[in-house]
Amino acid sequence: MEIKFEKETGLFTISNSKISYIMQLVKNNYLAHVYYGKKIDDFNPYCSYYEVEHEGAPQPFDYPEGRIFSLECLPQEMPAYGCGDFKYPAVQVRLDNGTTSLDLRYESHEILKGKNKTKNLPSSYVNNEEDALTLVITLKEVGGKLKVKLYYTVFENESLIVRSSEIINTSDKEQKLHQLASMCLDFADGSFDRVHMYGSHANERNIDRVPLNHGIDVVSSARGATSHQHNNFLALCSKDATEEHGEVYASTLVWSGNFEAVTELSCYGYTRMVMGINSFDFEWILKPGESFTAPEAVIVYADNGFNGMSRSFHHFVKEHIVRGRWKDQLRPVLANSWEAAYFDFDQDSIVRFARDAIALGVELIVLDDGWFGHRDNDKTSLGDWTIINKKKLPYGISGLCDEIHHLGAKFGLWIEPEMISHDSELFKAHPDWALSVPDHKRSTGRDQYVLDLSRKDVRDYVVESISTVLSSASIDYVKWDMNRNLTEIGSLSFPEKQQGEIATRYVLGLYDIVERITSRFENILFESCSGGGRRFDMGMLCYMPQVWTSDNTDAVARQRIQYGTSYLYPPVTMGAHVSAVPNHQLNRITSMLTRFTCAMSGNFGYEMDLGKLSPQEQEEVKYQIGIYKKYRETLQTGDFIRLISPFEGNRNETSWSFVSKDQSEVILMYFRNLVQNGMPLTRIRFKGLKQGAKYQCVVHECPSVLSVKHEMSGQVFSAEYLENRGLIMDKCDSDFAAHLYVLKEVK
Ligand code: DGJ
Repeated sequence: MEIKFEKETGLFTISNSKISYIMQLVKNNYLAHVYYGKKIDDFNPYCSYYEVEHEGAPQPFDYPEGRIFSLECLPQEMPAYGCGDFKYPAVQVRLDNGTTSLDLRYESHEILKGKNKTKNLPSSYVNNEEDALTLVITLKEVGGKLKVKLYYTVFENESLIVRSSEIINTSDKEQKLHQLASMCLDFADGSFDRVHMYGSHANERNIDRVPLNHGIDVVSSARGATSHQHNNFLALCSKDATEEHGEVYASTLVWSGNFEAVTELSCYGYTRMVMGINSFDFEWILKPGESFTAPEAVIVYADNGFNGMSRSFHHFVKEHIVRGRWKDQLRPVLANSWEAAYFDFDQDSIVRFARDAIALGVELIVLDDGWFGHRDNDKTSLGDWTIINKKKLPYGISGLCDEIHHLGAKFGLWIEPEMISHDSELFKAHPDWALSVPDHKRSTGRDQYVLDLSRKDVRDYVVESISTVLSSASIDYVKWDMNRNLTEIGSLSFPEKQQGEIATRYVLGLYDIVERITSRFENILFESCSGGGRRFDMGMLCYMPQVWTSDNTDAVARQRIQYGTSYLYPPVTMGAHVSAVPNHQLNRITSMLTRFTCAMSGNFGYEMDLGKLSPQEQEEVKYQIGIYKKYRETLQTGDFIRLISPFEGNRNETSWSFVSKDQSEVILMYFRNLVQNGMPLTRIRFKGLKQGAKYQCVVHECPSVLSVKHEMSGQVFSAEYLENRGLIMDKCDSDFAAHLYVLKEVK
């Protein structure tokens, strides 16, 4: 791992054993982007491709040597508008003189050990200073009013870099920031496809791949959160890229609010990718001496396709994003009351629900929504966290918690701290605490308003009231929900000129409260949720090590949702539960095996009343939980590899596998959703096995639960056989079928 600057050539080289990221100072100190990709040891600084004459391309004021240099054709690190570059910028400021032209030139740099912490924002980290190096480059705007600092961190073992930026008002007047991107990646060439993840509630993170078109394409959220609709992820890949082959440049933000991911293919064939807080409807007033910091961008380079990209993201999330007590701890099997009871429960019914689940092996009982105020439906009481519903829970949260502990399980609770119901004591006392704009009535979403987290008094109330509940009992787990998009984004406590800051201040306020609460209750396992997967992002993962992936628990729909989510996030972060049939979202009936196979591919649990199953089904569940626990380590810590995409072809199939860290255990999941006569057989070639090793299919007693074909049971295969010849998936003779193979290394 190394960061170096060579004065003679102006080259900055950031590298580790996998990647090199190279920049160069050119033509009176512009910071050009030169290369990002596989490591190059000896980089030749010769570079002339930006010296081309294009009619009409402007020259900088201090470039007297003819017409062959223009910002129009210079790949840059922090491009701005107004001095010759007409492409989508990375920074925009309306200066106090009313204009927006920015000319940023290199001023200085420093190389630091370790990883900088991003001010007021969640950020990636290293435990040991020796594991990362950070380059800070300061650019100065020629007019003298602004400076921009660019941060680049390289990690010892990661095929990625982390970037962020900071803008500083060095003038004695206020300046108005309209955009500060976290990253920009400029290519002078390239023929890319653009990949992103779109969706909707209960249909999150579908993979979308399209050829990059000329002009500007934007993927964004203006909903106040990352959103169900578009995840804050964007990749550019070579045309031939598949799961295993081809080049991928992929970026995501350590951020949970409005974002934009912009690509532009210029008419000269230059490609630009910019990511950061959404510049649409964004403003930030920089007073003299003040600065604003953009969230981190994590930028992966992979030369081995999308599985290679995901391996890098997964490793990074596990090692440098998730932190705290639960980082390396195996996660418990949970049963959640939501789809089992919704709002219709009391102490006795939850204790019965818990007893039945615990008897089958469940380790954590979660009481979902409906335990406070008079919340018997979703129209009321949000905000009244300290008013426990004594009709339902006569002994309070502590009474229930003690009872569950007594039964031998951990206890978890649902909260939705960012919200306020119109019908609540909190709203009666503080109607001004909800986000609102003058002369408008507030829109509702799920009949609730959003608290104005830009206000310190509101944040203090949230921290205090939630802390009161969490200290009232020995709570082991919290599900932190957030069920609506932000509208009428305004704050009564900020002046007019700062209203453009409120959407951003909301997210900064959110980080303030989650930081205070999660650090105060550091033993609690927090699961982030936002109507399912609205806020599945690395920002929240810095505080909460797992996320409820989607409100859709149907095992067929979940194949797409979990496949897409796995582009960025390791399965241990993805809550996935077996639910009742017919499924509550889609009415579909699938087998217990299919539901189990899908749910065990994430952070496993149940979302149903296990006491209502037949004795035979309960036996099956008990067996499932035993199987899950047996392979939990591989499922939660192993490598996840996608094998067949549900987004490609019309084969109605999905497959993925888990390989333990030491490659001695392999678990393969295969789903076939619709059968038809004469259906071709599918051969699955394994990936990521230990070369030279031999693997045996493990035999289990209960083939209806663990589907190992009889003739395969006990069979031994070489890694080379499994990777090249593979296994044929037959015997899927009904709709929505699944196969679950476990292979163990034999010496
Ligand atoms: C939305 C969540 O995603 C569900 O799992 C459940 O917790 C409900 N909210 C409760 O209101």
